[in-house]
Amino acid sequence: MNIMNYETVAFDEQKDALLILDQTKLPAEVKILRLTEQKNIWQAIYLLQVRGAPAIGVAAAFGLYLAAKNIRAATWKEFFPPFHAAKEYLNSARPTAVNLSWALNRMEKIAVDNQKKSVPEIKELLRKEAAAIKAEDIWMCRQIGEHGLTLLKDGDGILTHCNAGQLATSKYGTALAPIHLGRERGMNFKVFCDETRPLLQGVRLSAFELMADGVDTTVICDNMAAQVLKNGWINAVFVGCDRVAANGDACNKIGTSGVAILAKYYGVPFYVLGPTSTIDMSIDKGDEIVIEQRPAEEITEMWYRQRMAPQGVKVYNPAFDVVDHELIAGIVTEYGIARPPFRESLQEIFRKKFLG
Ligand code: MRU
Repeated sequence: MNIMNYETVAFDEQKDALLILDQTKLPAEVKILRLTEQKNIWQAIYLLQVRGAPAIGVAAAFGLYLAAKNIRAATWKEFFPPFHAAKEYLNSARPTAVNLSWALNRMEKIAVDNQKKSVPEIKELLRKEAAAIKAEDIWMCRQIGEHGLTLLKDGDGILTHCNAGQLATSKYGTALAPIHLGRERGMNFKVFCDETRPLLQGVRLSAFELMADGVDTTVICDNMAAQVLKNGWINAVFVGCDRVAANGDACNKIGTSGVAILAKYYGVPFYVLGPTSTIDMSIDKGDEIVIEQRPAEEITEMWYRQRMAPQGVKVYNPAFDVVDHELIAGIVTEYGIARPPFRESLQEIFRKKFLG
């Protein structure tokens, strides 16, 4: 069993079911969930059975196709209201990663643009669009890998936070794509994975997939990052992102901002890697990004044999934080690397995307 050979999100065309590699069970157990009901798909996203910005976008796109398929409607007028309600429902699963609404809006646009067609034709177009979103995700990640690899040399030490690897996307990942691509080319890196409290994506997922790819992997608790940077073991920090604002402020897993501040102090370049679908040019600055708050139990009792916090204690559990753009050396996208000042360079990336 090599986790790199499993698909994070897949679609069973014969049986019309969404297949998800249940990430809450990793690394102990490889379990594939077969989902057809909206409630279960919503729950899989909320519970992080599927997680990582691009992967939840792909899962939601197939989820919305499944919702559309089950709508009994003869006309567009009958079809659209329940379809739109299903879209809003899936969109409510997690607020921060823009890829979720990006993928769902893209699906809705296909339906709206083709409303003159028959309902079965619209459903078929939706199935194709979801498959296209997944195929593009693979392409984008590979391109991010190519651009990110230009920032590394053989033998480099890299620090990463959370999991922005293959398990968070359809293939390769974003922050970990250059490492996987480098491995394909015979390169070796020393990767340090922050454990990533409270849900442990770094130790459970990044370490697991990097080791499966033969990467020299070391896990550290989040509070050890300063020591590792001070030791001089890190040449670059690579992290993913859930939403990037027009000024370059980048929202990612809670703890990322602290790593960026440490990297600046120790003079190590801090890179954010993500597809253009994660860049939200409608948001001017990071403080406009809605930060998901998660249940207290994730901190007080999950992962422990017994509860570790006194009963009744207050808990603050934001799932994400925002890295100030001034701490970021570059934002690596499928269309190249944006450098400061980001307002201009991100616009240039979108010019390349739309005008070629
Ligand atoms: O809460 P999660 O596990 O979905 O958070 C994931 C992250 O923060 C990732 O770094 C981000 O989504 C980028 S994934 C390519």
